[in-house]
Amino acid sequence: VTSTVAFVVNGRRRELELDNRTSLLDAMREHLHLTGSKKGCDQGQCGACTMIVDGQRINSCLTLAIMHQDAEITTIEGLGTTESLHPLQAAFVKHDGYQCGYCTPGQICSAVSVLDEIKRGIPSHVSGDITAPPQLTSNELRERMSGNICRCGAYSNIIEAITEVAG
Ligand code: FES
Repeated sequence: VTSTVAFVVNGRRRELELDNRTSLLDAMREHLHLTGSKKGCDQGQCGACTMIVDGQRINSCLTLAIMHQDAEITTIEGLGTTESLHPLQAAFVKHDGYQCGYCTPGQICSAVSVLDEIKRGIPSHVSGDITAPPQLTSNELRERMSGNICRCGAYSNIIEAITEVAG
């Protein structure tokens, strides 16, 4: 069974006729040829497929494209260009926040959301007090980025990059 789904992807309205079982990740990669988002595990464990949907990061392998009618979707392709990098992209370059680079698009999409979550005061359990506003600590960043796996182990550099952008 197929359905028509329309959404705004990186600022551009797109309409697709998709098999209802198509994941959001496959819709982006295979139908819109936005291959920046990566398929690592395809089961919600690695974070390589992270994109931002209506202001929240999600593992796009775990959700069906047809569930996101009229959504605003941002993938790594929508964050910067080679001529004008997003500040987090520039910081990842500066701090060597990657080795093979496979997880990097998901890491950066997550980092964009993490900084937004902290700015909006969305609490976490890291401080031990879930009612307290989050502090911009290394532990807080590590916890919030823990859904994004880097098999090369560039975690320290990734946290350094995010910390620099967070100011
Ligand atoms: Fe989606 Fe691994 S590919 S979490």
